[in-house]
Amino acid sequence: MNDVLAEIERARDLQDVVDLLHDRFDHYSWVGIYLVDGDDLVLGPWKGPQATEHVRIPIGQGICGAAAASGETEIVNDVNADRRYLSCFVSTRSEIVVPIPFEGRVVGEIDIDSDEPAAFGEDDRRFLERVAESIAPYARSATKTSTT
Ligand code: SME
Repeated sequence: MNDVLAEIERARDLQDVVDLLHDRFDHYSWVGIYLVDGDDLVLGPWKGPQATEHVRIPIGQGICGAAAASGETEIVNDVNADRRYLSCFVSTRSEIVVPIPFEGRVVGEIDIDSDEPAAFGEDDRRFLERVAESIAPYARSATKTSTT
C-alpha cells in the first residue's frame, strides 16, 4: 500500500487517483470520489464496470451521506444488512466511505464498493485515510463551495 501511496502523491488529478485505486486492488470493485456541493455530495471522477445512478446524494442520506455528516469513515461489511444503504450495483457486498477533510471541514469523500463480503479492514481504513489527506487540496479546489 505504501508504494501506491507514493504514486498517489505524484498523481496529477483526482481521476488519476481513482484509476490507481481501482487498478491496484482487486477488492476495490468500484471507486468514486464525491465532492461536497452545498448540502449535497456530487459524484466526481469514478472507475468501475458501471455508472451509478446516485450522482447527487443529500448529506445525511445513504452510507455516503452518513460519512459526510459525521466526518468519520464508514465500513459496512454487509450492505444488504444496513438500512442506510443506497443500492448502486447488484454485485456490491461491502462498502467503505472515507471523508476527505480540509481545514476542519469535509470537502468530499472516497467511496469504494466491493463485490466481496467484508472486504475492508483496518489496513484499508488507514491507507484510504492517508490518501484522503493527501488529495484534500485537490478535492477542495474541485468543490463548488469555495470561499477563497
Ligand atoms: N452505496 C452508497 C451510494 C453510492 S454508490 O455506492 C456508488 C450509499 O449508500 O451511500
